[in-house]
Amino acid sequence: MQITVVGLGYVGAVAAAVLSRSGHDVTGIDTDAAKIDAFSSGSCPFYEPGLSDLLEAGIASGNLRFALPSVGTTFNADTAIICVGTPTQAYGGTDLSQVYGALDWIKMHLHARTTVVMKSTVPPGTGERLMREELQDTDLQYVFNPEFLREGRALEDWLHPDRIVLGGDPRVTETLRSTLYSEIDAPALLTDITSAEMIKYAANAFLPTKISFINEMANICDRVGACIDDVARGIGMDSRIGQAFLKAGLGYGGSCFPKDTRALEFLSSVKGCSSALLSAVIEVNNRQRLLPIQALQSQFTSLKGVKVALLGLAFKPETDDVREAPALDIARLLVELGAEVRAYDPKARETARRILPDAVQIKKTAQEALHGSHAAILATEWEEFVRLPWSDIAGKMLEPRYVFDGRNALDRAILLDLGFTYRGVGRGSLG
Ligand code: UDX
Repeated sequence: MQITVVGLGYVGAVAAAVLSRSGHDVTGIDTDAAKIDAFSSGSCPFYEPGLSDLLEAGIASGNLRFALPSVGTTFNADTAIICVGTPTQAYGGTDLSQVYGALDWIKMHLHARTTVVMKSTVPPGTGERLMREELQDTDLQYVFNPEFLREGRALEDWLHPDRIVLGGDPRVTETLRSTLYSEIDAPALLTDITSAEMIKYAANAFLPTKISFINEMANICDRVGACIDDVARGIGMDSRIGQAFLKAGLGYGGSCFPKDTRALEFLSSVKGCSSALLSAVIEVNNRQRLLPIQALQSQFTSLKGVKVALLGLAFKPETDDVREAPALDIARLLVELGAEVRAYDPKARETARRILPDAVQIKKTAQEALHGSHAAILATEWEEFVRLPWSDIAGKMLEPRYVFDGRNALDRAILLDLGFTYRGVGRGSLG
């Protein structure tokens, strides 16, 4: 197939690279010239395991190219995949301006019977409205096809998804199932556009609900002296509940869960059925990232001059993405409270440096951050932090060698043995 991918953010770049590997002829379009230059030379402007190699291979095979949406250039495509951003507006609604821009461009540059595959997350009802108001005088086909890619595992998630969801006219969705996704061995759910849009939002509301639920349970565990690790395992062994997304910690961040839960909360109030459950999920998540600050405040009378090593800046391991990362709020609050913050992340140092206050020192190694610090907060569970030589670090940190393990990733017993003051999330430490 001839495919044009419009919008080369995280999802668009992955889509372009993987589809070119499957033998499709792919052109990636973006308005950002620097991005086009980077992709064209085979380098990826963000970190995603395996993606650079795939981009390079795609370009070398001749199946993949990148271009600015310049007027005058001819583009051929049977399918246009829209992967532009849909950010939240200040009042809570979703900003669809990039979606409108992409549709206008497709109408002007691609041939009349192109199938438009919307991958950008849009509020339920958007596709029907676009068909009524933007595409009514065209022969363009419109399908909503949500993506469920996790950062850090995007290639694997694309190639081995749990399901493929396609919303639209059954003749078009069936064709896409057997062309765009011919190589993917996964069940397909073909439905109408609005239900497909709702599936995306509901999935990105359900998983955060699990996370906020387990975090609430962890906070109770801390009060009653129970251990959330065992509690999560114990409830997860019930196949109706399952083990996934029951890791207690500082809560969820990233480009999807915070945005989509807020967008669905807003949409439900606009539609007159405000969601008490979603509001609580969001509130629990906002509170969760304050835990290390509260813990440090009760450990040290004042945080003024306290040296704190902040381990991890990315919103989760295996990415350099710091969007909505708990670590950023923690760093800003610590600075406001007068602490000296020494932060380190294996991949997200540059992305974090661009937005953190100058007062946050970004170190080149975890040891540089830890040595000479009174306290450490583990905010992202990079494997590197689990494997640190904690026995050596014990002698190089200052009393009270306080460790707040915000992801329950470290071995509590070993750290206590080494003389650290240890506090996890829901590991019974307040009992
Ligand atoms: C998510 C969805 O998983 C994906 O399907 C969707 O397309 C995009 O949003 P992603 O944001 O990459 O993917 O991250 P994910 O691995 O789902 O984790 C999201 C956040 O939840 C991270 O901050 C992670 O630390 C947190 N999390 C996850 C927990 O706190 N506990 C858990 O048990 C699982």
